[in-house]
Formats: sequence, structure tokens, C-alpha cells
Amino acid sequence: MESKLLQTHYRTSTCGELRKEDIGRQVTLIGWVFRWRDHGGMVFIDMRDRYGVTQVVFDRKSAEQDIDDLAHRLRAEYVIQIRGKVRPRPAGTVNPNLSTGEIEISADHLEILSESDNPPFRLDDKGSVNEDLRLTYRYLDLRREELQKYLIIRHKAVTATRNYFDRNGFLDIETPILCKPTPEGARDFLVPARLHPGKFYALPQSPQLYKQLLMVSGFDRYYQIARCFRDEDLRADRQPEFTQIDVEMSFIVEDDIIRVVEGLLQAIFSETLGIEIPATFPRLSYDEAMERFGIDRPDTRYGLEIQDFSACFGNCGFRVFDSLLSTGGRIRGIVVPGAARYSRKELDDLNALAAEMGSKGCVWQRVGKKGEHDSSIKNYVEQKFLDAAAEHGKASAGDLIVYVGGTDGVTSKALARLRQFLGDKEGLIDKNRLDFLWVTDFPLFERDPASGALSPAHHPFTSPRPEDLDKLTTSPELVRSRAYDVVLNGNEIGGGSIRIHNREVQRRIFTALGISDEDAEYKFGFLLKAFQFGPPPHGGIALGVDRIAMLLTGTDSIRDVIAFPKTAKASALMEDSPSIVNEHELLELHIRRIVRS
Ligand code: AMO
Repeated sequence: MESKLLQTHYRTSTCGELRKEDIGRQVTLIGWVFRWRDHGGMVFIDMRDRYGVTQVVFDRKSAEQDIDDLAHRLRAEYVIQIRGKVRPRPAGTVNPNLSTGEIEISADHLEILSESDNPPFRLDDKGSVNEDLRLTYRYLDLRREELQKYLIIRHKAVTATRNYFDRNGFLDIETPILCKPTPEGARDFLVPARLHPGKFYALPQSPQLYKQLLMVSGFDRYYQIARCFRDEDLRADRQPEFTQIDVEMSFIVEDDIIRVVEGLLQAIFSETLGIEIPATFPRLSYDEAMERFGIDRPDTRYGLEIQDFSACFGNCGFRVFDSLLSTGGRIRGIVVPGAARYSRKELDDLNALAAEMGSKGCVWQRVGKKGEHDSSIKNYVEQKFLDAAAEHGKASAGDLIVYVGGTDGVTSKALARLRQFLGDKEGLIDKNRLDFLWVTDFPLFERDPASGALSPAHHPFTSPRPEDLDKLTTSPELVRSRAYDVVLNGNEIGGGSIRIHNREVQRRIFTALGISDEDAEYKFGFLLKAFQFGPPPHGGIALGVDRIAMLLTGTDSIRDVIAFPKTAKASALMEDSPSIVNEHELLELHIRRIVRS
């Protein structure tokens, strides 16, 4: 980094900048004691700051100070300032892994500016340290090169985003944090309103309603790096508080948004990692994604696609298959090349995994020559059925076929998980690939299997496809939406939709969702009212910054790309939050604690 402003009262140079060309310069450095060694007459210190590590050498013979005294006082993580001359490292001690590895500072002065307690873990040692301890001392963990690198990559991605939108006429507009609940399907975090006894603000699950209102106001192209809050069960790629690149545009259709987002992701990958990604991404309909991959965010870096084997097992004699085929279920499966070698234990593991995902387990077939297949159902079905299946699935001798039967909901879920597991186990996933893709034509509604109630698959302002509107009352599940997701290597990194801007269509969607006029008025009245004043056709998308940062850095934990993340139980260990509030503060907020026994 070249900036005169890096020179301050305390330093002429950072710990990462000195090179061969600087040999002979008199310099002052400040940083943390990273490592310390005493080699006979010499004391070596590795000094560290955000920019790198520099080796500093004190020669006992020529030092102005009592080096032994200082050496005894120095500890890891002390902040020190040194003065000295840049010199080449002696032959044989050059460190090619370090940007400053060709030089060292021959120091003539050292000052301790701040002392440190013994750190609770070593900062050069990630693997063995318990994550809770690292989160409790997050400020120390953040001194580690790896996490610093991650946050720098995230910063670059956000900077690339801002520059991209600025170049393309988008305005960065902030929206409220204390707001009316926004409908993204999670639970709200509520904030009691002291000045309005009994009333609450909600923290935004997204800026959804506000960005649509900005379109009514005529801003036309909006973006925001927006903080969102969702009280939901956490997973490896979810945090209760996370960041979106939030976008809304007027006078557009799906293709316009898709072009903008493809351009954005190109800018992010190019400016952050120097990687040129494709100018356009493939598109897959939701139905096709579910049929081929069993999931609406498929990882297309490897094959193992799901196939329909139902036709091969008609009246096969295996009661489970016969009965589910006669009740409208299907037998779907995956051919795994070369996996007939799996042991019984490995096959049992596949069965357990399929069962964990809500199916009744899986059936396997070790593909042999015609008439010689081994299978978990070989005692129930004749070989000709297994022959037909192997032929249908284009499986060769030595391959394995794994079948799951049931409704599409059941088979998709189990086979998507099996596919991922098997792709990993067989080493089929090329970690260097970046497979971007769009999934389009999502259904507008989801039906709760237990209650039968419809809920929006995206949110209730998503536009249905006009040609499907006549199915709204007769078969609402078949109504497709104008929603789209962008997927990278099996991760949903963004989702959005074209919105409804017609009051009559919006009313019909609310009716289908069982939202009464009063309820709609209470929850979204302000938006509906605004839509009485010339709402433009509009749509948008939001991309998950944290998820994109995970993929850019290659880490598998969302916590690694957030400076101060929450644990999987949504608590902050460092500051011990959430925490108990005293009675007095609660009373001021007109809240009384009820202790349940
Ligand atoms: P959606 O709910 O799909 O859409 O969210 C958009 C993107 O945000 C990311 N994301 C999360 N990241 C981390 N932790 C979470 N808990 C979390 N939840 C979501 C995902 C997701 O793709 N208002 C709409 C967008 C629109 O219609 O314009 C919305 O929020 O990467």
C-alpha cells in the first residue's frame, strides 16, 4: 500500500513495507512482538502489524541499551517501537515466504510502549484453539493474519460494490433500523418503544418495504449495504445479524436485474481476487433444478445428477416400491461411478443419511454384468429389473446406484444430501471452480404439509407470472413467480423478484395467502397506500455479503468474515450479550418480567 499517511508520529515505515531497495535507510517501526529469540550475542524480534512482519536484530556488542534487561522484559504482544538501519539478511537466512524476507533491521533503540498479559492462545496457531475461547478474546483473534486477510478481502468486495453501483447511476440511500416489521419469513427482533407504552419497533429483516417506497419516490436505482436482523435458527452460513447488498430498480424486467448482478459479481471477483468470471451465468428453472439436483441451489461443479428410475421398477415385486409407485410416488436415484466397491458399512451410512433427511432410507445396487447385480433388494426383485435400471441410468459394471422412493419432496431432499455427500466422498468437487448460476421461475407459494396453509415462497410482494394468474384460486401451488436466485457452488448468494405494482393483483395474492384486508392494512398499509400514487414497475434483489465473503476467502465459517460475530446460539461471548436487564430499566420500557416456573 502506497500512502504517505501511513507515516505517522510513531513510524517511518510499516512492518510490511521494507524491501531490498530500502537497504541503508534509517527507519522507525512500531508494532507487536510476534516472536522473540536469543541467539548467543544477538536478540531477534519479529515485529508485526496489519501490514506484515519485519525481523529486527539487536547486537549486544554494539547496542546503546542493556539488551539483556530489555530482552528479559519483552513478552509476546507487547507494543514496541524500534529505530535502526535496514540491512540485507545474511546469506542463507533470506525468508522467501515473507514480503520483508530479504531484509532485517539492525536496531539501535527499542522502547516498550505498552505491555500485554500473556495471551490466552498463540496467535500463530489456529487449529488447536477452541472457538469459544477465540470468540471471547475476539480482538486478539483478529490480530491473526488469516482473519485480517479475510476482513481485508471483505472490505475490497464492499468497496468494489460501492464503486460499481456509483459508476452505474445507483444511489446509496439508508433506510430505518427501528422500523415496522418486514416480511421475510423469520421472527422479528423487537425493540420496546419507551415513549409508546406497549408498542414495539422491529429491527428490519431486510429493507424490503422501504426500498419499494423509494421506487415510488422516483429514485429509480437504489442500493445499500444494509444490515438485516432475523431471529431464526442458525446454520453454518447464517447469522442473526448479517449484511446484504440490497438493490431495487424501476422500469426493469428480470433480465435487467440479472445483467446488473452479473456485472456486480464480475467487478467483485475481479477487483478482490483478480479472477475473471463469465460475463453471463447459466439459468435453470426451479423445476429443472429440483428434478436434476433435488435442491433449488444446486452445486453444478460435479455430476451425479438425479435420474428417475420409476419406469424400471413397475410391478417389480418389492412391496415398498410397488406401493409407493401406485400412490403417485417416484423412485429416483443417483449413479455413482466406481462405487460398487463400497463396504456394507459404507452402504449402511448412506442409508442412515437418507433416513436422517426424512426418507425411509435408500436402496442400493452394485452394478455388475447383465443378470449379476448385487442389491439390497435382490431377494425381492428379479435381476431383469436391476438390468433395466442399470441400462436406463447408463451405469457400467463397478458403479453403484442409490435409489430413494417417495414423494418428490422426500426424494429430492434425501437425494440432494446424498449427492453432496457422495460428491465429497468421491473427490468429485473441483474446489477451484466457480459455478455461478441463476435459478428462476420459483413457485409463488409454499404449502405447509401439516396445516395445508399457503405462505409466500419469497415474500408477499413478489409478482406472479401473469400467465399463471388464472390458477390462483384453483391450483395456487402451480402459480410461478417472477423470483430469481443467484447461486455459487451450491450456495444461495442472492435472491430477489419483480414486484407487484398493481393493487388488484396484490389484493388477490393477499387473499390467496389468507391475509385479510384489515391485516394487510395493519401490516403493510403504508406501502399499499403509497401504491395508490403511481407506483412504477419495479423489482430488485439482495445478495448476502457475508456469504460472498466466505466464498471469496474460502473459509467454511460465516463467523470468520464478520469482525464480531455471534455463536451458533446467537450470543456474543466477548461482551456477554444478550444480557439481563435490571427491573428499573424494564419498568421504564413498560415491561414486566414473568418468571415461569
Ligand atoms: P432473502 O431473504 O433471500 O431476500 O435474502 C437475500 C440474501 O441474504 C442472505 N441471507 C443471509 N446471510 C446470512 N445470514 C442470514 N441469516 C441470511 N439470510 C439471508 C442470502 C440470501 O440470498 N428482501 C429480499 C430480497 C429482495 O427481494 O430484493 C431478501 O431479503 O445470501
